[in-house]
Amino acid sequence: MIQPKNHILVIFGASGDLTYRKLVPAVFDLFEQGLLPEKFAILGLGRTDLSNTDFRQKMKDGIKQFSLNKPDDEAKLNSYLEKLHYFSFDTKEPDEYCLLKGKLRELDEECGTENNFIYYLATPPSMYKIIPEQLSLQGLSDESTGFKRLIVEKPFGYDLATAQKLNNQLLKYFNEEQIYRIDHYLGKETVQNLLVTRFSNGIFEPLWNRNYIHHVEITGAENIGVGNRGGYYEGSGAMRDMIQNHLLLLVGLVAMEPPALIDSNNIRNEIAKVFHSLRPIKEKEVAQYAIRGQYIASTIKGQKVNGYRDEEGVAPDSRTETFAAIKLFIDNWRWADVPFYIRSGKMMPTRVTEIVIHFKATPHHLFADDESIAKNHNQLVIRIQPDEGVLMKFGMKVPGAGFKVQNVNMDFHYSDLSDTYLPSAYERLLLDCMLGDSTLYHRGDAVEAAWKFVDPILNAWKSDSSIPVHGYPAGTWGPDVSDELIEEKNITWRYPCKNLANDGNYCEL
Ligand code: BG6
Repeated sequence: MIQPKNHILVIFGASGDLTYRKLVPAVFDLFEQGLLPEKFAILGLGRTDLSNTDFRQKMKDGIKQFSLNKPDDEAKLNSYLEKLHYFSFDTKEPDEYCLLKGKLRELDEECGTENNFIYYLATPPSMYKIIPEQLSLQGLSDESTGFKRLIVEKPFGYDLATAQKLNNQLLKYFNEEQIYRIDHYLGKETVQNLLVTRFSNGIFEPLWNRNYIHHVEITGAENIGVGNRGGYYEGSGAMRDMIQNHLLLLVGLVAMEPPALIDSNNIRNEIAKVFHSLRPIKEKEVAQYAIRGQYIASTIKGQKVNGYRDEEGVAPDSRTETFAAIKLFIDNWRWADVPFYIRSGKMMPTRVTEIVIHFKATPHHLFADDESIAKNHNQLVIRIQPDEGVLMKFGMKVPGAGFKVQNVNMDFHYSDLSDTYLPSAYERLLLDCMLGDSTLYHRGDAVEAAWKFVDPILNAWKSDSSIPVHGYPAGTWGPDVSDELIEEKNITWRYPCKNLANDGNYCEL
């Protein structure tokens, strides 16, 4: 295993939730597995006034709750915590960046990290302009004496224009190879497994195209609401929060051509090509191709739950979508006229992310009527989470008289590999950045192409009040009209369960 070079991970926004729940615990998991360089430090930056001791204490608590490798050796945990430092700093103040430079120089000398710095922007996006600019003015983006990498959290822009502006700004101070646009879905083991499922199995390649695939369905469902993130979510909605990034990425991985090599440029070129081939949905067509919804109050298992408009930080007449579904097409040779149905929502019956490849039925139906053909066509379900795995559905004869066909399951669950450790997304992505590998990070052109596709939908939703925001009771699969996106007779969305092999509208969750 290649070890990253000695360096300091500088986290802007270190007093926030992301640092506490994800970043510091993920780096601890790397530490536990011996994957950190010999000389390494984290410098947390935030406006809150904290001493090193306060910061370490808070992070210790986060590690205990959120790391995958639960710390059982107090001395070892303490030796990790000693690598954590805190510097109280107002990101908005240009004058303070020379203090930061001094602090970094001092820490670098103390720790022997050879002027290699990774800057992690875990701040609100409004800070994405000032931080790179000021780092560069202080000479802190200059790589002549050590690497300088910049990790940018989502949201990357608010629409196409702001994403382009942000890319241009970043590129003034850092070059593309130094910029790591993070999408934590790319760090998920099961998302990466999509490449392996597709490109290491000879049996799929001949079938993976418009000749054999009837449609593709992608679901990213959550069974929680917006919690205390109402303020953020109001300006975002499901389209910006989940679809523009995570779900379109899954579309990219399902639809991409085999890359010539498994490396950053080749993989990212192929994903970008898919985004560029998305058939544009014109503003006037939006009602036909996209559906939006918002959860309303209901009772789940005897418990009353709030509607979105009752959540903290949400306007009482909000029209922000907590559910979105789109029917899209990819205009290229492989996918011409194959519909992709994608949906994402909060407060749905269960938390599940999965891709379902629906294969075409046999050309001549020997055994079944129309309805069961529609139900029993072959499906390949690639489960991203939970109960990560792969499921193949195919027809078998029901024992007994006649030729009745029933769909049966052939399934693989990651949990069957009992001794396999599934790293967290942040762990994998942070390690890749430390190693200088950007394969699993987004490239600027692909981010812009994804915005270009969703922009007309967002514009129509904003300007055309005749496009309804459908209410759906919390705990259901979204507005019932979302079934109408799939115009085909007898075909609906799959209604997945927590367990990969189970499905159906009324299964136990
Ligand atoms: C984040 C969104 O990017 O992804 C959240 O901002 C969402 O709203 C989360 O809950 C879902 O991630 P995961 O890994 O739980 O599917």
